[in-house]
Amino acid sequence: MDNLNGKTFVVTGATGRQGSAVVRHLRQAGAHVRALTRNPESKKAKQIAGLGAELITGNMEKPETLKTLFQGAIGVYSVQNPYTSSFTAEIQQGKNVADAAKIAGVTHLIQGSAGLGKKTGVPSWDSKLEIEEYIKSLSLPLTILRPMAFMELITDSSYYPMASTFHIMPKLMGADKKVVWLAVDDLGAIAARVFAAPDKYIGQDLKLTSDLQSINEVRALYQQVMGKKPPHFPMPEFMFRMFTGDDLIIMWKYLRTATLDITPESTLAILPKAHTVRTWLAEQKPKGL
Ligand SMILES: NC(=O)c1ccc[n+]([C@@H]2O[C@H](COP(=O)([O-])OP(=O)(O)OC[C@H]3O[C@@H](n4cnc5c(N)ncnc54)[C@H](OP(=O)(O)O)[C@@H]3O)[C@@H](O)[C@H]2O)c1
Repeated sequence: MDNLNGKTFVVTGATGRQGSAVVRHLRQAGAHVRALTRNPESKKAKQIAGLGAELITGNMEKPETLKTLFQGAIGVYSVQNPYTSSFTAEIQQGKNVADAAKIAGVTHLIQGSAGLGKKTGVPSWDSKLEIEEYIKSLSLPLTILRPMAFMELITDSSYYPMASTFHIMPKLMGADKKVVWLAVDDLGAIAARVFAAPDKYIGQDLKLTSDLQSINEVRALYQQVMGKKPPHFPMPEFMFRMFTGDDLIIMWKYLRTATLDITPESTLAILPKAHTVRTWLAEQKPKGL
């Protein structure tokens, strides 16, 4: 990906899971990365700076703080988190980033999205549609990336809401229903490849997965690879709702009956070495899970 060498990209959510993976892969490809954070003094921000990214300080909810930060950038990776802000704030943040990108004349915006690209009634998917519609109304050159379930949910106890992966999710969705998995790091690698080939990917709406495995299949893989049963946190639905709100409950009930037309082929065409759940688990094992 020599063609990213020295080119400037802004990454929002850069201290978060998606953003940090995107920063990592853009840096590996030789790009100059401006990593947006509200707090450049945080431990995570310092780790990102350690990758050779330039920390830029701004708040996606305050457009005036973004004004000059995007000048000279050719690409922007934009991601927001409704679970740590709110759905209304997520939408406003996404629109503010798009406005800043438009003003700066950015030639490629990748929106880190989710869902199916149509109205479903799932709040965290429908909010993203509103951001996407806004970006399109600005005629910004856009690629939409739609991961659905990150493999980190299987292994990372700090991953919100990992506690639910082996309990509430299968209860609501069905333990034999295929889950559409992708590792966050692979999302970062895919974003870098998409930025490297704008002519190919601008205008595309990419539903991403590198492996389809039901929770029952993941349980079996976990046992095979890790040599023990996956963690189990029994929790009644009402308590889960108290902690997390309605969104994931609505999402998993929706997925119980939804027909998903998402297969790994198109993702593997972009990133042939993307993880399967088995290779993901094998990589996590030495970390002593
Ligand atoms: N969990 C899944 O399986 C899954 C699957 C597909 C899609 N998604 C989507 O992934 C998204 C979350 O991505 P993530 O996990 O990468 O999020 P994350 O780890 O929570 O990171 C979000 C980052 O955004 C920054 N941020 C938050 N509010 C900000 C503001 N007002 N201005 C500037 N920066 C702000 C924070 O950085 P600072 O604190 O440094 O400012 C934070 O590090 C959600 O939209 C979710 O729907 C999740």
